Amino acid sequence: MTSLLPATAVAHPNIALVKYWGKRDEHLMLPCADSVSMTLDVYPTTTTVQLRPDATSDVVIMDGRFLRGESSQRVTRFLDLVRTQADSRDRVLVDSRNTAPVGAGLASSAAGFAALALAASKAFQLSLDHRALSRLARRGSGSAARSVFGGFVHWHAGSDHAPDPDFASYAEPVTDTRLDLALLAVLLDTAPKPVSSREAMRRTMTTSPAFHRWLAATRTDTALMRDALRAGDVQAVGEIAERNAMGMHAAMEAAVPPVVYRTSASHHVLRQVRRLRAAGERMWATMDAGPNVKVLCLPGDAARLADQLRRLSHRPVLVARSGPGATLHRGEVR
Ligand code: PMV
Repeated sequence: MTSLLPATAVAHPNIALVKYWGKRDEHLMLPCADSVSMTLDVYPTTTTVQLRPDATSDVVIMDGRFLRGESSQRVTRFLDLVRTQADSRDRVLVDSRNTAPVGAGLASSAAGFAALALAASKAFQLSLDHRALSRLARRGSGSAARSVFGGFVHWHAGSDHAPDPDFASYAEPVTDTRLDLALLAVLLDTAPKPVSSREAMRRTMTTSPAFHRWLAATRTDTALMRDALRAGDVQAVGEIAERNAMGMHAAMEAAVPPVVYRTSASHHVLRQVRRLRAAGERMWATMDAGPNVKVLCLPGDAARLADQLRRLSHRPVLVARSGPGATLHRGEVR
């Protein structure tokens, strides 16, 4: 018997310090390599799931609007996984509120699917531990596996030689570090991205001559990043994160046709970061599937560096810190 009480969950976006780019299995959403991230304390997504046993289809409301077409089917396909695990045919009402601009490489899909995985598994009374929840969230959006946890997080790619490759790919918190980082997001453009990350990954993997070199470097970067986090070495963390992200963009830009997320405004900010660093500031850049530049620094430097970046870019700069994992609370569907 499933409960008819709505379940509400909150999750936050995460920013990868070692990036996930490329799936070795698109159906199971298995990545080509491990990645390491930091969950943020900004832009939460709150999602409520309520069972509707008499309904014939799911209804998905996002930010007050009914989702239709492919976006709605993506949620329904995800809910089908939950229904299979729960051995249920019940349809649901999903009501999700984002606070991040959708589609701009600020990881709203990570927070969204982490919150949906938790709320839906609770509504269907599945008792999943955090690791199992990360596997489920992964099926919605790869990076969502990491938003299940707070702080620094390591998502294991697993191996195709594992008895169950799906089981072998999960996220877990990085507990052997005391490093505290801040992240400054220079908001250059919050419009939806021109190419979805799914299509961009596929194109990079299949056509970019630089992809395999980047992937090999990423495997090393994960181990180096774990060492740097353990040692609390902010400079090593920043250097690995910046070169890993820039290598990923270089690989995308070498795809045919090129996947270009970096704009002239992004390059301007990247130059300013390098210039300030040459002048002695401890700050390193990272970027995702969009034009916005994010800057890693120590919390004590964040307000000052954010002011400098605002002055130099004439754009809003958001200051984020390490944030919590996905949490549940029961609530009403609004
Ligand atoms: O989970 P997706 O499909 O939104 O892919 C995320 C890809 C990057 O944000 C560019 C990198 C990452 O590891 O988060």
